[in-house]
Amino acid sequence: MAVLVTGGAGYIGSHTVIELLNSGNEVIIIDDFSNSKPEVLGAIQEITGKDFKFYEMDYANKEALKKVFEENKIDSVLNFAGFKSVGESVKKPIAYYKNNISGALVLLETMQEYGVKKFVFSSSATVYGEPERIPLTEDCRTGGTTNPYGTSKLFIEQILKDIYQSDNSWDIAILRYFNPVGAHESGLIGEEPQGIPNNLMPYIVRVASGELKELSVFGNDYDTPDGTGVRDYIHVVDLAKGHIKALEKLEKEGNGLYIYNLGTGTGYSVLDMVKAFEETTGRKVAYKIAPRRSGDIATCYSDPTKAKEELGWVAEKNLKQMCEDSWNYINKRGK
Ligand code: UD1
Repeated sequence: MAVLVTGGAGYIGSHTVIELLNSGNEVIIIDDFSNSKPEVLGAIQEITGKDFKFYEMDYANKEALKKVFEENKIDSVLNFAGFKSVGESVKKPIAYYKNNISGALVLLETMQEYGVKKFVFSSSATVYGEPERIPLTEDCRTGGTTNPYGTSKLFIEQILKDIYQSDNSWDIAILRYFNPVGAHESGLIGEEPQGIPNNLMPYIVRVASGELKELSVFGNDYDTPDGTGVRDYIHVVDLAKGHIKALEKLEKEGNGLYIYNLGTGTGYSVLDMVKAFEETTGRKVAYKIAPRRSGDIATCYSDPTKAKEELGWVAEKNLKQMCEDSWNYINKRGK
């Protein structure tokens, strides 16, 4: 199987490329390093001892993309090339919609032209907006996203449903990620947010390392056991493995549009995360209680039963491993 991976040098893309190579797939990566570094490619080779093809280009560049399809016999496409910063998306909606939606359209159009119809899409739990119920199942209501990043995911889901409706020879998997954290156990690749991190785990890690002074806990008056926000944190390697299972499903069964939650099914609060991190690493995480962050919800965790039953996938790594691997990465990379 030759798999085209857009954004393959990014956080989730790179971990997925490792799992693809380890399970014997041929991999072609496209990345423009707009939110990743070229060294990641060397790290992937070092970890897997395997080779892959690489094109440095914007995935929305139609001419360059056609060349990739001409030069390779691609069977399926995994799309990780989206912009993902919620705050930035509010400030730059046009850039977000252009990259995420127009980019996806160029990619899908090119796939159609070359008769490639297996597509795995990186969606997000954010498409559920304010959760209809907890735990979230795939049939819960979607919509009510609070920022262009989330809305771009929602729109692309709709686009994919429309494409499948028009031509059911497509095989599409929409994967709704909960909160990916952690890093590869080698410590050679991990999450590398630009500037000050917005997400919880990268922030905790940088407080523990002394790079940032203290964590602001955004609200302690939510209707949750300790008042702080509850989320479904999932180890990025488990998440990566979910993609392999989804691809296998598309190869075996095909002709369908499938939607899966990729989460652990367990919710942890912000303070649970701080405590787990301190216990695992022996480092102190200074924090203060701050006002709620706009757009945040109290509780969000998955019911991952569908992925278990239909893909044979379950998240295997626990919170301790998530903390350990996040910490290991930051230490190895040297701030
Ligand atoms: C956010 C995005 C979501 C995206 C996901 C990617 C929003 C509203 N949602 O999810 O669309 O798919 O990242 O991983 O931004 N927290 C603090 N202090 C911090 C950072 C976070 O207390 O400095 C709290 C938040 O209030 C929340 C929890 O930690 O309760 C997790 O936050 P975060 O890691 O940003 O993820 P989400 O907001 O769940």
